Amino acid sequence: MTTRAIEWLDGKIRILDQSRLPQEQIFTDLDNYHDVVLAIKEMRVRGAPAIGIAAAYGIALGALGIKTANRDEFLVQLNQVMQTFAASRPTAVNLFQAINRMGKAARGDDVAEIRRALVNEAEQIHQGEITATMQLSQLGAELIKDGFTMLTHCNAGPLATAGYGTALGVIKAAREQGKKVSVFATETRPLLQGARLTTWELMQAGIPVTLITDSMAGYFMHQRKIDCVIVGADRIAANGDVANKIGTYTLAVLAKESEIPFYVAAPTSTIDLSLRSGAGIPIEERSPKEVSQIQGVPIAPKGIKAANPAFDVTPHRYITTIVTEKGIVREPYLEGLTKIVS
Ligand code: MRU
Repeated sequence: MTTRAIEWLDGKIRILDQSRLPQEQIFTDLDNYHDVVLAIKEMRVRGAPAIGIAAAYGIALGALGIKTANRDEFLVQLNQVMQTFAASRPTAVNLFQAINRMGKAARGDDVAEIRRALVNEAEQIHQGEITATMQLSQLGAELIKDGFTMLTHCNAGPLATAGYGTALGVIKAAREQGKKVSVFATETRPLLQGARLTTWELMQAGIPVTLITDSMAGYFMHQRKIDCVIVGADRIAANGDVANKIGTYTLAVLAKESEIPFYVAAPTSTIDLSLRSGAGIPIEERSPKEVSQIQGVPIAPKGIKAANPAFDVTPHRYITTIVTEKGIVREPYLEGLTKIVS
């Protein structure tokens, strides 16, 4: 997969617009930070690691656009830029980790030096995620046996990570190890990341993929057609509870009932040790229109009330292992996650 989801081009950010895929491959250049915030909110850039990377470059872009040469005034305005990013999407902790790192990197005697440090830090964050996703994919591939059929939900590939991918990275690495693997991809209502993006990425990688609706997962598990479930994550609490795309919890319960392993693959930037359990993870509520419409076309009666929580939390007891670039963690998660993060 060579398509670049996010690219820093000396003073502007080029993104592949994920809202238009797979019908259209449109690269958009963003040259001010407000447009980056909007791209995150509208999910033209999406997926936990990719949101963090986009925000880091967006903050660098914001810093380049601040007009004052006064260091203190510059830092006040930079803080406002970072606050705007913090308000873009609440669930993926990678966003807040990136903002935090950018805040710490804003060091230097003058404005020019701070700007250089911020661009450098954003590039480091991006490179770090590329390396982390490649490493965790290699580690995770050891869990995948030759001949496995895996079910994945939402999209956790190169688009979502601006790197190698997490859940899809593991699948690709297993394939690169010479294992014959195939995938069931859930469509992932309401925004269809599975149907639009995961299938597109897997087909490009030459990995056999079957698209199913979200409601078909239990049927195929019961038919013993699925050997494991593998998903990404948006935030992992200290006890191993995992927030991921809405519907993940349902899949985890079904997997346990069917005695199928349930794997989570995520870089350590997705781990939030400040939260003891998943109960503290903020769940994004998005527009009801995303449910009452499909790609702008109404599918329900006018005036229908609809709910749209974008994520759910899977309790750690349903999770067989969490794969990170620093190792594979099993129960007791608190111990294992604390060890790899500190
Ligand atoms: O709302 P999205 O599309 O940003 O949600 C993405 C997911 O839930 C992914 O599974 C998660 O971010 C992992 S990405 C490697």
